[in-house]
Amino acid sequence: MALHRASTHVPARRHRANPLAAGDDPVAAATLAPPKHRLASRPVPADTAYQLVHDELLLDGNARLNLATFVTTWMEPQATRLMAECAEKNMIDKDEYPQTAALEQRCVSILSHLWHAPDPARSIGCSTTGSSEAGMLGGMALKRRWAARNPDAWRSGRRPNLVMGANVQVCWEKFCNYWEVEARLVPMEGDRFHLDAESAVARCDEDTIGVVAVLGSTFDGSYEPVAEIASALDQLQERSGIDVPIHVDGASGAMIAPFLDPDLVWDFRLPRVASINTSGHKYGLVYPGVGWVLWRSEDALPEELVFTVNYLGGDMPTFSLNFSRPGAEVVAQYYLFLRLGFEGFAAVQRACREVATDLAHGIEQLGAFELLTRGDELPVFAFTTTPEVTAFDVFDVSRRLRERGWQVPAYSFPAEREDLSVLRVVVRNGFTDDLASLLLDDLGRLLPELSAQPGPLGAPSASSTFHH
Ligand SMILES: Cc1ncc(COP(=O)(O)O)c(C=O)c1O
Repeated sequence: MALHRASTHVPARRHRANPLAAGDDPVAAATLAPPKHRLASRPVPADTAYQLVHDELLLDGNARLNLATFVTTWMEPQATRLMAECAEKNMIDKDEYPQTAALEQRCVSILSHLWHAPDPARSIGCSTTGSSEAGMLGGMALKRRWAARNPDAWRSGRRPNLVMGANVQVCWEKFCNYWEVEARLVPMEGDRFHLDAESAVARCDEDTIGVVAVLGSTFDGSYEPVAEIASALDQLQERSGIDVPIHVDGASGAMIAPFLDPDLVWDFRLPRVASINTSGHKYGLVYPGVGWVLWRSEDALPEELVFTVNYLGGDMPTFSLNFSRPGAEVVAQYYLFLRLGFEGFAAVQRACREVATDLAHGIEQLGAFELLTRGDELPVFAFTTTPEVTAFDVFDVSRRLRERGWQVPAYSFPAEREDLSVLRVVVRNGFTDDLASLLLDDLGRLLPELSAQPGPLGAPSASSTFHH
């Protein structure tokens, strides 16, 4: 999370309670002024504390109009109720909450079938706080397996590496930094905005712990060609004996492709795919934070990484970075699997894809923008201004849309395509066709004003780098 420093304001900044809106006694409430950055010496009534915090949060954006995030912003009341009922349950207390643990096991089983594990009984997996933790666990398993295969290289201090596109989400750069693995990032080139098989294999050697293939890319929603990468790695092995496993980062796509692209082979059907992660809180349709990581079989997860906790008088294997974690999201994930089934999930994801492709088309028709992607893989697309547009840029568009409440991020691309800046729209469950039409109308209305600008106002410095 963001790193903060303590505040040293003198005099200390204080809340002021509105007498009428802050509990039973307006006269007493008017005297309350608890400090904001230190503990007050005396308590304030619960209603007053609620009102003060509630009012301050009015300044947060409207989550339903947030087209920047991949993370769920709407769930049905029944799911929300279940989550509230489970708010106090700690996921690690397997012995105390055995049924929550049972639901987690069922979710792993459902995903293992959905992702075509060759022998679901031998596949293994767990819930996590999100795809970042899931990716770290996947990466740790890859690193340990490499060390076991290459004990001399490991002991002699050779640095292992992980091959991936420069478009990977920041969690993979974190993994490499924290676990001292060289990040071999394949830069973008021309109109290639993600990893391809040839460039991936060209960077692999005997110290490569794995290749991360992303389904689909955070930058533009495109799927990386997992099967082509796997086949190129098969040929590498035939040529050189170097055996490089694949981890699929399916943060979003692992909950889209099984329902909408059943013929796309990207998962455990490819023998080279050792592990897959997804975010339950993205297209798994659960509020933050829950993720999942699965290994195709126990052999892909070194035993020494596994810790055991008590469960119904016995031991249960666990693998995680945190110890305590909320159980409510796991319960909600199981609710969604139960509630929607395969057809229900397909209907929800298809609706998102239809909204995304129609909206992308509508934006293209406005004439001022060109599409990098069309929302036909992840329901996500990126677009930029056409070369003829000189009066404004994507950052101006993002800023002006914000005035209407729409949050559409603008950002620059990474290495070798830093010249390219785009806007990105993530269509999630709850972003309806009606809302998409309103966005398109607003964008159309803005264009004459933007075109009358003397020139682009440019990127606000903090938003030109992108960390979603
Ligand atoms: C491809 C990809 N991987 C990993 C992550 C990190 O996921 P989480 O936010 O669940 O930790 C994201 C987030 O957007 C992503 O798009």
